[in-house]
Amino acid sequence: MKFRSGRAVAQGSEGIRLAMESALTARDRVGVQDFVLLENFTSEAAFIENLRKRFKENLIYTYISSVLVSVNPYKELEIYTKQHMERYRGVNFYEVSPHIYAISDNSYRSMRSERKDQCILISGESGAGKTEASKKILQYYAVTCPTSVRVETVRDRLLQSNPVLEAFGNAKTLRNDNSSRFGKYMDIQFDFRGAPVGGHILNYLLEKSRVVHQNHGERNFHIFYQVIEGGEEDLLRRLGLERNPQSYQYLIKGHCAKVSSINDRNDWRTVHRALSVIDFSDAEIEELLNVVASVLHLGNLQCSSDDDGNATITGENQIRLLSRLLGMPGTVLREALTHKKIIAKGEELISPLNVEQAAYARDALAKAIYGRTFSWLVQKINKSLAHRDSTYSDRNRPNVIGLLDIYGFEVFQHNSFEQFCINYCNEKLQQLFIELTLKSEQEEYEAEGIAWEPVQYFNNKIICDLVEEKHKGIISILDEECLRPGDATDFTFLEKLEETVGKHPHFVTHKLADQKTRKTLAREEFRLLHYAGEVNYNVTGFLDKNNDLLFRNLKEAICESGNGILNQCFQQEELDDKKRPETAATQFKNSLAKLMEILMSKEPSYVRCIKPNDAKQSGRFDEVLIRHQVKYLGLMENLRVRRAGFAYRRKFEIFLQRYKSLCPETWPNWKGRPSDGVATLVRHLGYKPEDHKLGRTKIFIRFPKTLFATEDAFEVLKHTIATKIQAEWRGFHQRQKYQRQRWAAITIQSWWRGGLGRRIAKHRKNAALTIRRFIKGFIYRHKPRCPENEYFLDYVRYSFLMNLKRNLPKNVLDKSWPIAPPALSEASELLRDLNLRNLVQTYCKRITPEWKQQLEQKVVASEVFKDKKDNYPQSVPKLFVSSRIAPNEINAKVLQLIESDKIKYAVAVTKYDRNGYRPRARQLVVTADSAFIVEEAKLKQKIDYTNLNGISVSSLSDGLFVLHVPCEDNKQKGDVVLRSDHVIETLTKLAMEADKVNNININQGSIKFMIRHGKEGIIDFTSGSELIISKAKNGHLSVVAPRLNSR
Ligand SMILES: Nc1ncnc2c1ncn2[C@@H]1O[C@H](COP(=O)(O)OP(=O)(O)O)[C@@H](O)[C@H]1O
Ligand SMILES: [Mg+2]
Repeated sequence: MKFRSGRAVAQGSEGIRLAMESALTARDRVGVQDFVLLENFTSEAAFIENLRKRFKENLIYTYISSVLVSVNPYKELEIYTKQHMERYRGVNFYEVSPHIYAISDNSYRSMRSERKDQCILISGESGAGKTEASKKILQYYAVTCPTSVRVETVRDRLLQSNPVLEAFGNAKTLRNDNSSRFGKYMDIQFDFRGAPVGGHILNYLLEKSRVVHQNHGERNFHIFYQVIEGGEEDLLRRLGLERNPQSYQYLIKGHCAKVSSINDRNDWRTVHRALSVIDFSDAEIEELLNVVASVLHLGNLQCSSDDDGNATITGENQIRLLSRLLGMPGTVLREALTHKKIIAKGEELISPLNVEQAAYARDALAKAIYGRTFSWLVQKINKSLAHRDSTYSDRNRPNVIGLLDIYGFEVFQHNSFEQFCINYCNEKLQQLFIELTLKSEQEEYEAEGIAWEPVQYFNNKIICDLVEEKHKGIISILDEECLRPGDATDFTFLEKLEETVGKHPHFVTHKLADQKTRKTLAREEFRLLHYAGEVNYNVTGFLDKNNDLLFRNLKEAICESGNGILNQCFQQEELDDKKRPETAATQFKNSLAKLMEILMSKEPSYVRCIKPNDAKQSGRFDEVLIRHQVKYLGLMENLRVRRAGFAYRRKFEIFLQRYKSLCPETWPNWKGRPSDGVATLVRHLGYKPEDHKLGRTKIFIRFPKTLFATEDAFEVLKHTIATKIQAEWRGFHQRQKYQRQRWAAITIQSWWRGGLGRRIAKHRKNAALTIRRFIKGFIYRHKPRCPENEYFLDYVRYSFLMNLKRNLPKNVLDKSWPIAPPALSEASELLRDLNLRNLVQTYCKRITPEWKQQLEQKVVASEVFKDKKDNYPQSVPKLFVSSRIAPNEINAKVLQLIESDKIKYAVAVTKYDRNGYRPRARQLVVTADSAFIVEEAKLKQKIDYTNLNGISVSSLSDGLFVLHVPCEDNKQKGDVVLRSDHVIETLTKLAMEADKVNNININQGSIKFMIRHGKEGIIDFTSGSELIISKAKNGHLSVVAPRLNSR
């Protein structure tokens, strides 16, 4: 909602209003929102007090049941926004605070749901807000009804017809700056979708006298001022007008051509725009304005009296202008305005008029052309609003909502013919109201099966009859006087009235009245006791106004007019028609009768408008003035009729829904029929049988106090319930939230599980397929490659190769190798070979020269001694060393002789003498070409390898060995018997250096050797527990060697 500081008050109280209106208990402060709930419904004071309370709170609307009472706030209230319209749209009438929108919506919905035509009757004094109310209703429909492009045009036209009608039919009066001076009934037609598709306007009784005369403080119709103030220079020139209202006699009678609250210039723009929206062509606008201008020029026509007392027109300029604007020769007009034509006995007589008569004729012409132009305007608007859809047959015509914006009761100091008509109209409307309300009440009672109790109310039919009855009614008498030949006057009319209706209880005149009443009545007045109160009518002018005469020759002249509009308004047939035209009162009576017919065929809603003060001020509540209106609008009568039976009625469901918490049996939910529920509830609440009735669908409560007691109890209980409901609601809300989350989780889970399941199933299926293929492949495995076994074979190969890859032998000694499938046996062998080679190659690459040498020596040792000498196995794990004696342990002299870099190996040995076998410690030094036996610094013996014939050892574990050298050589001292602790190493190295590997002899039992040429020694070897080397008795060297390895 927009917030404008200037409206802060109104808006603030709007908030309060909503809050308070929501509870009936706020009634102390803001009153009741429906007058039927007033305890003391017959008290006017209570009624007004309720209005006052609400008015102070800016609550301008109050119901009398379905009748809306509206008090003019004289300020803009923020209650007509789009949001407000939405709030009232489609809701139950009683659920929201009273509003004009509620009435509009209710009618609209009734029309839509029941397909019954509706009408909304808006009545009230001038300035009470009728026209505003009808505009609000129209806007509500324009905004809330469904639309389409076509409908939009109609909607715009419906809305735009208003400013045009108001320009021509409204004027500033003392009571209202924008007073409608005509009655208006407007039909809005809706199509089957509920969209406004057309409209039709009926106008009633335009106050034509205003054209030529205005009371002090009042103005002529707006359009005159608008054209003068707002018209372009060019337009004014064409119309021959000055931009100054003071120049025109017809505009200055009220001495207030300018009013601060009215902006004629802006209004002109609005009207001009609206005219084009409602289909006026430029030519039509021009002709319309020509009529408007003509009226002004007519007003300025002056007459003077010639010598014979006859009128002559002096304003030559005006005649020229008029003849141009009206499209007729000036002479014709001049002649017509100053003469009168009478047809007597088939002969036309033309007689001149005097000045007074000429002025009368002029004014009559001005009124006539303006009045008829206004009717033409309405017809023109109707054409533009006409619903042109051919799909609607008569049977299937669109539904309508009628809006009646018509003058309310008018009571002035002096009341004339107009007030008589207006008040008669209101009598008729009241009659309609009574008939329809009573009828609907009675129908409701009947429908609900409740006995009808006669209602005491004032039926104003008697007054309607007094006015309109044929031959006997006031109108008939008036007409009679008008038509009567002879010199009928207003006074003869009054006398006739006294004669004819003088005995009527609602009619009084000065002559008929008693002493007391006579003081309040002038001689020329008659008094009617209307349903709303007494009104005195002054008979002066009644005949004239009723005749509404335009001299025949003036009519003839206008018929010749070149102005298109006047041409349509004044037609020759009218002149040819010999019958007298209907009088104004009869016309009005007939149009009212038609209106009543229209309204009777529809379902009515009522808006009663009240003006809070005469000063057009906001916030002022003039009690006297309001009491007057309450009376004249017949609101107390309305209320009495509504309250005659029961003050309050509601559908069972709605009643039960609201109050069910007050009875344990109906709370929280009533399972049975609503009617039984209500019966249980009211029994519990202690309603007396005479205070209420249960109908078929509704409960009827006779007195408001019964309802209020219930409402108050509800109010008290509400808070407890509210807390409970809150808790329940929160719980419910949380549960719902939880359920939603749970559901979401379950959904996610199931999707996830689904996905997972599908994946597993896919796996299983694949697995089964694989297994099947596998089995098949297994069966066909010996067949040549074919589709059945190719997978299997491939798999077997693959898995063999993968297995092989994982389990390849890591070193040369590892002889493991997976078993290859038949198809791969050859490849397997090749691979195995390759792998071995590869291992060997890498192994070999890693071998150092020293290690290579070691291995070569070990290989040789193995070839020589393996399984041949008992202590060989013990030597295997022990690495051969490069030398057992460090060079520095060899005597320097020896080294000088041998050259140290030639030494390949040296070892401490024991030498056994050839004679006696005495052991001597010696060093054996091996070089590239010889072996030396060294004793300290002495080179005891050099054995060239060429001389080394062989080497003998035993098969036992001893370290003895014999180097065989030839004895012939003297340098040589015979075979040498040595012992080494590292016999295997020593011999291997020596044999390899000497290239005598194949010359090592391993002997069992004994070794023969040459001591010197021809002399042999023998070494006997036996096994024993420990090594013993000694000379045996037989002269042999006896060696006992421990057995190390059993064979
Ligand atoms: N609901 C309303 N809100 C604000 N102002 C209003 C309202 N009704 C009437 N008025 C004021 O009262 C003035 C007269 O209202 P109007 O409808 O022309 O009276 P009526 O048609 O009954 O003679 C309007 O020009 C407007 O200023
Ligand atoms: Mg009005």
